[in-house]
Amino acid sequence: MKNKKDKSFFVSTPIYYPSGNLHLGHLFSTTIAWVLKNYKNKLGYKTFFVTGQDEHGLKIQKKSEELNIEPKKYVDSQYELFSNFWKKAKIKYDFYSRTTNSKHKKLINSIFNKLFDKGVIYKGKYVGWYSVQDEEFITEKEAIKKNDKLYHPISNHQLEKIEEESYFFKLSLYQDWLIEYVKNNPNFITPSKIWKELSNNFLKEKLKDLSITRVSFDWGIKIDGDPKHVVYVWLDALFNYISALDYKLENESEKYKFYWNKNESEKIHIIGKEISRFHCIFWPIFLKSLDIKMPTRILTHGWIITKDGKMSKSKGNVINPEELFDKWDPEIVKFFLVSHLNMFEDSVFDENDLLLAYNADLANNIGNLVSRVIKMCLNSFNDPMKFDIKKVNDDDKMMIDKIMITKDNFINLMDAFEIDKAFKKVIILAKELNKYIDITEPWLLNENKERLSTILVILLNGIYSLLTYLDIVMPEKINVFKKIIKIENLTFDEISNFEKFDNILPNPSQMVFPRVKKN
Ligand code: MSP
Repeated sequence: MKNKKDKSFFVSTPIYYPSGNLHLGHLFSTTIAWVLKNYKNKLGYKTFFVTGQDEHGLKIQKKSEELNIEPKKYVDSQYELFSNFWKKAKIKYDFYSRTTNSKHKKLINSIFNKLFDKGVIYKGKYVGWYSVQDEEFITEKEAIKKNDKLYHPISNHQLEKIEEESYFFKLSLYQDWLIEYVKNNPNFITPSKIWKELSNNFLKEKLKDLSITRVSFDWGIKIDGDPKHVVYVWLDALFNYISALDYKLENESEKYKFYWNKNESEKIHIIGKEISRFHCIFWPIFLKSLDIKMPTRILTHGWIITKDGKMSKSKGNVINPEELFDKWDPEIVKFFLVSHLNMFEDSVFDENDLLLAYNADLANNIGNLVSRVIKMCLNSFNDPMKFDIKKVNDDDKMMIDKIMITKDNFINLMDAFEIDKAFKKVIILAKELNKYIDITEPWLLNENKERLSTILVILLNGIYSLLTYLDIVMPEKINVFKKIIKIENLTFDEISNFEKFDNILPNPSQMVFPRVKKN
C-alpha cells in the first residue's frame, strides 16, 4: 500500500481583487478551502493551500488613480490589510499569491512566448465591449441593453467600448477537446449544473478568439518583446495557481511535481459561480495548450446573499466579517458558514441564525453533553473505566453503531464536498448522544457501577468522535476539550477503538460554549 505521506492535496481560493475590502463572501470561499485542507491533513495527506490577491489590471489601476497613489503602493497597502484579516480570521495558508511577484511575472512572459511560437497566440485588433469591474469581454449579443447603453448580463456593470491593438488566443482550437474532456471526467466541474449553464451560454457556437493583451493602460505584466502590451488580467491571474508551486516552463520544481504533476495528486479550485467561465473554459484550455495537467476538480459554491438580495456596495448590505469577529470568535463564524449555509445553492446570511445555531448546536447540544458526561464520570469514579464489549446491551450497541455510521457518513459527505451536510451529521450524533443519556438514565445507576461505566465510556467515545470532526473547523476551541479528555491527537482511525479511555479519567469540565443571549 502507498504510504499515506505520499498522498497530496492542493486547494486554492480565487485570488481576490484588492480594489475593495474583503467581505463575508470571500471569507466563505476561503473557509471552505481551509476546512478541506484540515480535513485532508487529518486523513494523512500532505496539503498545500493557496490564496492571495489579484493585483493587476484596469480595475486596480483606476482605483489607485482615484486614490492618487502608485498602483504598486496601493496593492502593497491592501496586502497589509488582507493578510491581517486572514490572521484575525485564524486562517493560515501555505502560500499567498501576489501577481506582482517576480517569479509569477517571469512565468507569464515565458508562457506568452511559448504560445506565440506555437501559433496559438497572434496579433490583431480588438473592437468590442468590456466590463472593467468584472475584467471581462462581453459581446453585444450577451450584453443587456438599456437606454442605448450596454450592461454586463450578470453583474449589471456598464460596459465600455474598446478599439485597440491586441494579441489573441485561439480558444476554439481546444473547444472540442474541452467538451470531450468534461464528458469523460464528470467530476471535473462540480456541481454539474455549472457546466450545463456554461455549455448553453458559451459553447453552442464556436468560441471567439480571446483578447489577451491591452495597450491603453500599463498596470499589468508587460510583454518582453512588445512592452506596450500588458497581459489580460485573467490570463495573468489564473496562472497564480501554479506559479504558487514555483512552476517554470524550463524545469519543474519539486513542489509542482508533488502537488500538481503526479497522477494521483488531488488539485481542487474553490470558486464562486460568477467566475466559472474563466475557470471552467479558459483555464483548462490555457493548460491544455501548454500540455500541463488539469486540476482534478473545479468546485463552485453558491453565493451568500442577504435578506435584501445579493451583497453590493450600492445597496449598502455588504457584510463585513470583522464586525462579526468583534462579537463572535472567528471559529464560531467559520463553523456557522460551513455547517449552516448550503454548499451549492445561494444562502441568506442572517446574524440571528448564527446566534440560534450557536446556542442550539454548540452551547446546548455539544457543550452540555460534554459537561454532563464529565460531571458524571468524576462524581462516580476515581479511576479510569474499562470498556468491555461483552457488557453492552441493545441500547449501547445501537449507540455504538450510530457513532460508527456517522464516521462513514461524515467521510463520504466530505469526500463529495457536501461539507454542510457532513457537519449536520455531527450535530445529529451529538443529539443522539444526549438522547442516549435520557434513555439509559445513568443518574439512577450509582449502585450499579459496572453498568454506569459502560454507558459513560460509550459517551466518552462518542464525544471523542464529535471533537475529531469539529477539530477540522474549530481547532482552538477543540484544544480546550482535548485537555479535558486528556487526549492529544484526534484521529478518524481511533474513533473505532473504544478502549482508548481505559487508562484515562478526564479532567473537570470547563465552559467552552456559554449560552449567548439575544440582544
Ligand atoms: N480576482 C478574481 C479572481 C481571480 S482567480 C484566478 C475575482 N476576485 S473577487 O475579489 O471579485 O472575488 C470573487 C470571489 O469571491 C468569488 O468567486 C467567490 O469566491 C467570492 N465571493 C464574492 N462574493 C461572494 C458572495 N456574495 N458569496 C460567496 N462568495 C462570493 O473574481
